[in-house]
Amino acid sequence: MRIDILTLFPDVFGGFFAHSIVGRAVAKGVVDIRLHNVRTFTHDKHHVVDDYPYGGGAGMVLKPEPVFEAVEFVKQDAVLPSVHTVLLSPQGRLLNQSVVRELSGYEQLVLICGHYEGIDERVAMYLANDEVSIGDYVLSGGEVAAMVVVDCVVRLLPGVVGSEVSLVEESYNDGFLEYPQYTRPAVYRGLEVPSILLSGDHKQVARWRRQQSLMRTAKRRSDLMAKAVLSDEDKKLLSDALQNQVTEGI
Ligand SMILES: C[S@@+](CC[C@H](N)C(=O)[O-])C[C@H]1O[C@@H](n2cnc3c(N)ncnc32)[C@H](O)[C@@H]1O
Repeated sequence: MRIDILTLFPDVFGGFFAHSIVGRAVAKGVVDIRLHNVRTFTHDKHHVVDDYPYGGGAGMVLKPEPVFEAVEFVKQDAVLPSVHTVLLSPQGRLLNQSVVRELSGYEQLVLICGHYEGIDERVAMYLANDEVSIGDYVLSGGEVAAMVVVDCVVRLLPGVVGSEVSLVEESYNDGFLEYPQYTRPAVYRGLEVPSILLSGDHKQVARWRRQQSLMRTAKRRSDLMAKAVLSDEDKKLLSDALQNQVTEGI
């Protein structure tokens, strides 16, 4: 996959793409991430990228010309057939794991980071194919949002995360939150790891984990639970948990 990020502040991405899972994916050549400074697509002496909003009001608006030209530039040398241009915006569709899966299916993503009061609306209307928000709050720029998108998309690319099983079992993959995780030591400051996890009984461990996952989701995320499709076994696990007042780790 290739990801082109259009930003006024390429330096803020700093070491983010050099470390951890994204860094490994870059090093392995699974993803090619390119940063482009939108300011270099201006033609005036002072490289002006913003202007006052038509109709008045506070703040400045990112001009359309450098953004259109930057997108045209990154598409020009792209040999990849599926290019998806995403404007990071608090007004976009909310990023969730299903949107992440969808984005990870493209061969090239172009991420446009806004700043100031936002970007001239013609970018959203005629240039971007998609608008994505990372949450119902307003950031001062799209850079952090772009990092979020890159991180969660890249870890889904084949060969990036060590074990594909960890992707299958994690939160949101099947509509539920993941079960709680523990590691050594078995007792820390008197706090014990649930004994079932030390039993070596794989079937019981799987049953416990599923039950925890269901209980957690029911307790913490009623919105996910309302959409969830529960098997008969899931319903039984939930009702058993409620009867036995299973609260550990929830
Ligand atoms: C200060 S915000 C502009 C907010 C705009 N005036 C509004 O009310 O919708 C500047 C830029 O930050 C980015 N941004 C802010 N919040 C975001 C969010 N929740 N998700 C994705 N990008 C966001 C966008 O690229 C946006 O153009």
